[in-house]
Amino acid sequence: MITPSVETPGEGKKGLPSWSERYLVNIAEFDDQHRDMFGYLRQIIEAIEEEEKADVALYLLDALAEATVYHFDREEEMMRNLDYPDYTLHAEEHLFLLKELHEFRKRLAQRGGPLREGDLDFLLDWLEVHILGADMRYSGFFNTHGVK
Ligand SMILES: [Fe+2]
Ligand SMILES: [Fe+2]
Repeated sequence: MITPSVETPGEGKKGLPSWSERYLVNIAEFDDQHRDMFGYLRQIIEAIEEEEKADVALYLLDALAEATVYHFDREEEMMRNLDYPDYTLHAEEHLFLLKELHEFRKRLAQRGGPLREGDLDFLLDWLEVHILGADMRYSGFFNTHGVK
């Protein structure tokens, strides 16, 4: 059983990460994408727990990375369209997160072998910190501009 490094937030049943209403940014498209990202994380951890599914975990990690790139692109596109004042800072945070994810994937390939318990703690951390921090800050701005 993996133990997420952040204690209560993001934990669903069995201590697995799961989306909850506290992550609502009130933009339907982005809430759906955030929910999917948590879903991938949960599936990855479940796959790690069943050793024969190690390949599945890596496949799911790549799927999460792809979904994350798409999600960040969509958020940034919306910000540019609406002249969101914190665009640059937000986009920089996205870039940093993607770099971390890329580095992690590279380390994993070099190390070989399956994903291990604890490997995903940093991913869960950044997903939470980013949604609850930077993403929350665009919520009111987008809503005021008619995006829901
Ligand atoms: Fe987001
Ligand atoms: Fe974001």
